[in-house]
Amino acid sequence: MTAWRAPRRVADCYSIADLRALARRRLPRAVFDFYDGGAEDERTLAANAQAYAQWRFAPRVLVDVAAASSACALLGAAAGMPAAIAPTGAAGFGCRNADLALATAAAKLGIPYTLSSSATTAIETIATRAPGRHWFQAYVLRNQDFFWQLIERAHHADYEALVITVDLPVGGKRERDFHNHFSIPFRFSARNMLDFASRPRWALDMLVRGMPVMENLRGLEAAATSATAIASSVGRSYDPSFDWARLAQVRDRWPRKLIVKGVSRGDDAQRLAKMGVDAIVVSNHGGRQLDGAVASLEALPEVLRGVAGRVPVLVDGGIRRGSDIARALALGAHGVLLGRATLYGAVAAGEEGAQRALGILHDELLRTMRLCGAPGVQHLTADLLRPAGEAAPPEQPACRERVPARHIEPAIS
Ligand SMILES: Cc1cc2nc3c(=O)[nH]c(=O)nc-3n(C[C@H](O)[C@H](O)[C@H](O)COP(=O)(O)O)c2cc1C
Repeated sequence: MTAWRAPRRVADCYSIADLRALARRRLPRAVFDFYDGGAEDERTLAANAQAYAQWRFAPRVLVDVAAASSACALLGAAAGMPAAIAPTGAAGFGCRNADLALATAAAKLGIPYTLSSSATTAIETIATRAPGRHWFQAYVLRNQDFFWQLIERAHHADYEALVITVDLPVGGKRERDFHNHFSIPFRFSARNMLDFASRPRWALDMLVRGMPVMENLRGLEAAATSATAIASSVGRSYDPSFDWARLAQVRDRWPRKLIVKGVSRGDDAQRLAKMGVDAIVVSNHGGRQLDGAVASLEALPEVLRGVAGRVPVLVDGGIRRGSDIARALALGAHGVLLGRATLYGAVAAGEEGAQRALGILHDELLRTMRLCGAPGVQHLTADLLRPAGEAAPPEQPACRERVPARHIEPAIS
């Protein structure tokens, strides 16, 4: 539940809903809506969250949970909890240092941070200024030389994994942005000037320090030198012809971990596992692409069956509570990506907000584990869940036990 009055300070935020309310209070409506909104009728955006509400816990009692811990191995390395920060482009338009803030907060909790190719912070800046594990997310661009250069840069900067997002052959139709006259860079109309002016602290920062630039896409088009030219070239630069053969080239050329994000079907997952990807993210881009797409949590069992334990499966979309992370793990996910949940914190209040968001989620996850009689994440299993209104647990998922041990437990101290 949202607090009865929107909090004014990070210290007054006790839930992700509170941080969302703080972001709404601090950002112009058009900017907030850009982060918060989804495609068309926002049915998938809503369905992602509702899917979590459909599962209730049947807690185990009389279990010693005094030393409960969420520490685990995630994609072969230690993590403070089975989660990573999802790539979110353009975060710097809400708060200038949002990318670094998220990366730093992730490192403090010991979870990977994923930098979007549409971020306003350069690949190299994250690598040198933020400690911790870094993944780089690349959209597939028509300009193949540029695409490969980005990947090369991530390799040189020692990024541990490459995330290829495959649910965006074209941009989704986000109608809140149309209504708000919102675009990146900003187009100025009478309506949005008033909107921007209503948040003087934010407006002053943009005015004095200038509009952020999508640093990694500088030079995407030879003529694109200004912020305006770069940003407007991005949308039309996605390559809708990207297919299995091209993904195989990426697999051949990228020597480290390859993660494919944006999968909803078992047959696609099966083929990806066969191709030798290192992980799959069940995702519909947080409801920002195909409206009406199946909720991620609902797609998870099919994807798990498709990979049949050969590769780890992560899931994102709609996670707003630590208990949602517990539900996703109980249903067989190896981990989750955190999208808006941490983004709200970062755009509302930079590093303080990002840390608060992660602190809330981590605390809630641990609390849920203790309350469910699960001292470690490996104890979050399907028998803990009941579909709302029913007494029986769900069918056991094609679950974590079948994945090679290095991807899962035990906890790493
Ligand atoms: C503002 C915003 C920007 C995003 N940018 C990217 C991006 O650059 N690359 C990408 O693969 N996904 C992007 N996503 C999708 C997220 O990585 C993630 O899949 C989604 O946010 C998960 O849903 P949730 O926000 O409900 O948790 C973006 C999402 C949001 C909200």
